[in-house]
Amino acid sequence: MGESLVPEAHDSASAPIDHEAIAAAVACLQAGGLVAMPTETVYGLGADATNDAAVARIFEAKGRPAGHPLIVHIGAASQVGEWTTSTDPRVALLAEHFWPGPLTIVVPRSTKVSEVAVGGLDTIALRVPNHTTALALLTAFGGGIAAPSANRFGQVSPTTATHVRADLGDRIDLVLEGGSSEVGVESTIVEIVGDAVMLLRPGGVSVDALEAVLGEPVVDGTASVSRASGMMASHYAPKAAVRVADADQLPLIAASSAVIVPFSTRRPLSWSLPEDSVGYAAGLYAAMRAADQSGVDEIVVVLPPDGPLLAALIDRVGKAAAPRT
Ligand code: TXA
Ligand code: MG
Repeated sequence: MGESLVPEAHDSASAPIDHEAIAAAVACLQAGGLVAMPTETVYGLGADATNDAAVARIFEAKGRPAGHPLIVHIGAASQVGEWTTSTDPRVALLAEHFWPGPLTIVVPRSTKVSEVAVGGLDTIALRVPNHTTALALLTAFGGGIAAPSANRFGQVSPTTATHVRADLGDRIDLVLEGGSSEVGVESTIVEIVGDAVMLLRPGGVSVDALEAVLGEPVVDGTASVSRASGMMASHYAPKAAVRVADADQLPLIAASSAVIVPFSTRRPLSWSLPEDSVGYAAGLYAAMRAADQSGVDEIVVVLPPDGPLLAALIDRVGKAAAPRT
């Protein structure tokens, strides 16, 4: 209660690599198994992106409906050509500036990827994650790892290995440890298929940063047909109901509700996060899980006032607060 959820100052992305664990994870992937891996955004539930049966196990473990395509993680931008037929120079430009990092790029696909992984689409979502353990795994494996967030479908994404085990423990073969995910919200997804660069999901890279590099506007595609499961109305949801409020409404909120705020308070059942959007994002999912575990019926969330990750925060908390069906 009244806990601070500011992630510890250690740099999880540069934690020492456990080579034995990496070797075991590679063997597991080669055998068609499921490996949970840390990334800088959230933990992913990975399988060999070319193996239909292995990828099908991801959908089963998550309870994710078929047809929701997965992100394929690769170890370096130099591998992009294996997975896409695109020669659009904007793909290389974005990769050069933002990879490894929290940006996923959707492009027309080659035939290499499992059709199960792309949900039958003729496009593929590609990302090079910025986490030493994920990069070590991808390099040692040599191929692509299809991985959605390592949580049950529709629920809050995991930012620690403990979260993964709590959600999926007995459904996966191996969990790689990698500390707390530093970004804490999922990657930004852009699609480069036609003329425009379309934003499909706000995330760890802001639209401003993308536009500065591209020198052109990014078109908002977040309201278009739901190709991304994170684009469904309700998603990222804890068990408790979620409500978004302004700071000045706090005195009116019942003492029995948990509150997550970008400042410290003396309220019971309150989780204090940093006031800047980056620090707030890093702690949000852990706070939602902790607030949920306290057994409350309602979690009231106050967002930070501004900052580069605010769009992603509004999206995630908005979906957590959406009516459940
Ligand atoms: O940060 C992240 O993106 C994390 C880490 C593990 O990399 N992954 C993640 O995966 O958030 P997931 O499955 O929870 O969300 C991936 C999103 C989904 O909404 C999916 O529908 C969308 O990417 N996606 C995948 N392939 C796509 C495609 N070809 N076209 C449009 N959307 C696609
Ligand atoms: Mg997810």
